[in-house]
Amino acid sequence: MKTIVLVLAAGKGTRMAASCPKVMQKILDRPMLWYVLRALEKNFKGHIYPIIGYKKEEIEQYFPLYQEYFIYQKEQLGTGHALQSAWDIIKRLNPKYVLVTNGDTPLALPLHFHRLEKTIEEQGASVVFLSLELDDPGSYGRVLRDKKGNILKIIEAKDSSQDLTSREVNAGIYCFKREFLEEYLFKLQNKNAQQEYYITDLIEIAIKNNLKVCALNMGYCPELMGINTPVELEQQEEVLRKRIVYSCLERGVCIHFSRMVIIGPEVDIEKGVEIEGPCTILGKTKLRKGSVIKSYTFIKDCDIDGIVYEFSHIVGSVIKRGAQVGPYARLRPGAIVESKARVGNFVEMKKSVLGKESKACHLTYLGDANIGPNVNIGAGTITCNYDGKNKHQTIIKEGAFIGSNSALVAPVQIGKHALIGAGSTITKDVPDNKLAIARSKQVVLKKRGK
Ligand code: UD1
Ligand code: CA
Repeated sequence: MKTIVLVLAAGKGTRMAASCPKVMQKILDRPMLWYVLRALEKNFKGHIYPIIGYKKEEIEQYFPLYQEYFIYQKEQLGTGHALQSAWDIIKRLNPKYVLVTNGDTPLALPLHFHRLEKTIEEQGASVVFLSLELDDPGSYGRVLRDKKGNILKIIEAKDSSQDLTSREVNAGIYCFKREFLEEYLFKLQNKNAQQEYYITDLIEIAIKNNLKVCALNMGYCPELMGINTPVELEQQEEVLRKRIVYSCLERGVCIHFSRMVIIGPEVDIEKGVEIEGPCTILGKTKLRKGSVIKSYTFIKDCDIDGIVYEFSHIVGSVIKRGAQVGPYARLRPGAIVESKARVGNFVEMKKSVLGKESKACHLTYLGDANIGPNVNIGAGTITCNYDGKNKHQTIIKEGAFIGSNSALVAPVQIGKHALIGAGSTITKDVPDNKLAIARSKQVVLKKRGK
């Protein structure tokens, strides 16, 4: 095996002040670690080993496919110590190179990792790492060079009393020759401000032993900046959001008020779709050509081929060709709006099909309902699908007309072209072509004294 990858993901992330491990903090609704793994999978699938520790169960649960790849760092004694805790695995797999990346650099691209691997091979170096040029190098490890420009070491901001004029910093992504680690990994010491074992000290160790070290200077590269604080998380999330929005625009998706449009990393939008901000589109959503998404909508895990009007909240649903939803619609998982059907304001659907060209335009709840084509659901219709213990189905067949303010007590079936009088509480099946009315009769009485 040529290269294995270790992802440093065991830290707590004290500066983030959150209860989850830092790498589980979400940007655009996916944990940072998800992005790192996705970028690595492009070239290293099957050879990626995340090193976890703090609240490791949370990470294990989220990434079940990595179950056999997780490495456990019991105590978090520093990034060098994390690498040491992977030594048994490295020894067993015996790769030529070990690529190591911080787990808090979620915007790194496959090409960044690929370039490291290529460089170590071409240069025959013992260590290669990525560096950045920052105007404000903040808490990053500084790359120190001599007058000739040769690398001397990486020095952590916290450990330096001397003035750190260097603007070149360590990005936290490295590639090591296995033989180098074999000889020097356990020579790391923790004599520093934080009493931690630093992976970065391996650079100085290599130099002192006359081994070749290369820094690949990426210049100013916001993609390679780590996330340690809520401010940095906000900044990186914005970089990613823009990256996704612009890639849609460039592909021919029309986006109005794009500064307020949030599109998740797995959303698939065809060209010819029109989107109006502000809106949020997440999960494995697919928007098909000709669809329109109006402002103030929230959409997650949907397949849409129609129009979604303002203020609609749509999750796990399918909207077929030419169907219209909203404004103010709520579609919960399992809602299917067939082609040219219409879901109007204050209508909620859950695990229900609204048939072709059917309409539910106002103030309605459709739960566990299967509704055929050309059905009219009057305003205020409710499927009473829950008896306190179980959920039951309502079936409404083709061409039926449900008068306003009807309660359909499931399980119940309404036949083809049946008509339900307004205000009915329907508890028994209604046959095809029949009229059912279930409401108390109106009486007209004399008013007192008149
Ligand atoms: C680290 C580098 C610094 C570099 C910066 C780039 C060290 C000592 N410093 O600093 O030179 O400029 O990244 O972003 O490495 N982790 C573990 N186990 C531990 C400690 C940390 O797995 O015991 C993981 C963390 O979860 C994190 C990564 O290692 O994903 C980096 O740790 P972090 O504390 O963020 O290091 P920085 O201070 O950012
Ligand atoms: Ca960091």
